[in-house]
Amino acid sequence: MTTEPASSPFPSEFAISTSRLRIHPFDPDNLSHCEFLVQLWNTDDFTKSCGRTGIDTPEKAAAFIRWRVFADYARNRHGQFLVSLVEASQAPKLIGCVSLMKGAPPGPHYLAPDIGYTILPDESGKGYATEAAKGLLEYARVELDIHTAFGFCSATDLRSRRVLEKIGMDYRGVAALWVFGGKESAVYALPGMDKDLGIYNLTEDLRDK
Ligand SMILES: CC(C)(COP(=O)(O)OP(=O)(O)OC[C@H]1O[C@@H](n2cnc3c(N)ncnc32)[C@H](O)[C@@H]1OP(=O)(O)O)[C@@H](O)C(=O)NCCC(=O)NCCS
Repeated sequence: MTTEPASSPFPSEFAISTSRLRIHPFDPDNLSHCEFLVQLWNTDDFTKSCGRTGIDTPEKAAAFIRWRVFADYARNRHGQFLVSLVEASQAPKLIGCVSLMKGAPPGPHYLAPDIGYTILPDESGKGYATEAAKGLLEYARVELDIHTAFGFCSATDLRSRRVLEKIGMDYRGVAALWVFGGKESAVYALPGMDKDLGIYNLTEDLRDK
């Protein structure tokens, strides 16, 4: 049992820039990051799609960042990041999260990470999820030599599916996924990934839907 949280490998100024956005690590000692996570993960939009996380106070958010988010950063050099909108002559504004997640044995895990995203309802429909996901995948490709990634979402979530299409992923069918406790999900994969997703440890039966 680990008694100390991992520390973040990222320098405080670390950021991935896209044309309109800044993608940057969480800091559990930054109250605005903790309050923002509570806000983002408790909108009706988020809870309808992703369910309740139980992170409903800044203190719980800080503990989550310190123990879970930092563990991913330390293990993989990727994980969950904040997304800020950068507009000329205005302070950057937190608008969402983007993630590249990979579970670890003995828990559910695949050998390719999966891309995820959440954008505040007021800022959605402006292409930000697509831009942030493309930015993080490009960083992973260039800086971390990661050329394989999945996209998972509910088969009925047409908005998320559209984002996965717009970032250039290929639809591979629907499966009851191990990482979601057997819940059905649409499965997308980056172009060029093997026809047999079993080589990435995804052994679930895929079917069209
Ligand atoms: C899903 C989510 C991240 C999308 O963020 P966003 O910034 O609005 O995404 P984008 O603007 O980049 O792209 C959205 C696309 O979906 C389309 N779309 C929106 N509603 C749609 C619907 N009901 N059916 C089909 N397409 C839809 C948009 O038109 C847009 O496509 P377009 O550019 O071709 O017009 C955001 O709505 C969100 O955070 N939802 C709650 C959390 C969530 O579901 N996360 C994903 C879990 S896997």
